[in-house]
Amino acid sequence: TVVPEVTDQLAGRKVLISAGGTREPLDPVRFLGNASTGSQGVALAEAARDRGAEVVLIAANLEVPAPIGVRVVPAPTAQAMLDAASVEAADADLVIMAAAVADYRPATTAETKLKKDEIGDVLTVELVRNPDVLASIAANRPRPGQVVVGFAAETESDAGRLLALGREKIARKGADFLVLNEVGFDRGFGPGATAVTVIDRSGAVVGEARGAKSSVAAAILDLVAPS
Ligand code: CTP
Ligand code: CA
Repeated sequence: TVVPEVTDQLAGRKVLISAGGTREPLDPVRFLGNASTGSQGVALAEAARDRGAEVVLIAANLEVPAPIGVRVVPAPTAQAMLDAASVEAADADLVIMAAAVADYRPATTAETKLKKDEIGDVLTVELVRNPDVLASIAANRPRPGQVVVGFAAETESDAGRLLALGREKIARKGADFLVLNEVGFDRGFGPGATAVTVIDRSGAVVGEARGAKSSVAAAILDLVAPS
């Protein structure tokens, strides 16, 4: 095992990180979710903590343990994440939105368990758009000099097209940096290695990193952390 280096590079700074996949409820026991485990966001939280930052982790569903020495704010749904992030971003120096936020939620949530005998053979679920947490934080910028970073996990294996998607996305979001990675049924989720490309708001590639999520987290902080 590698013992992480502890520095004071981010001492006195507040770093806000979102992680995990939101779960949008259909009824009290069922939800629409996604494959995010939260491991990259948790690795970022650990890396920022090890640089001396005050770290707040806005946690949707995490399938890895939350780090110690970090304040965890539970936010199971996109709306809960927007509420928590809006409050916590007010005094944050660096905001990194690594969570996989559901783009849609069920239009209604049943008060009691859905029952097959009341539904029949086909269940149609109407979904409505969720708020965009990253775009909202980036548009509000309560603190001058605040750096806002988004993630984009794309099922695009062509590097040029992946970059083009990233450039369109960072412009649409208003973020300062976007961390791009390719995902698929067999890659990108969980504890394994990962590979990312970081672009800035001009669309320029500012760096690339590959390897364990902990080393990729350190590389991302090197690229985006305010000095
Ligand atoms: N994000 C967010 N709120 C949402 C959706 C996404 O804050 N409702 C954030 C994610 O946390 C991530 C970034 O936006 O940092 C990009 O997410 P992504 O799903 O790649 O972008 P979308 O704008 O949802 O576009 P797409 O249609 O490709 O899913
Ligand atoms: Ca999305």
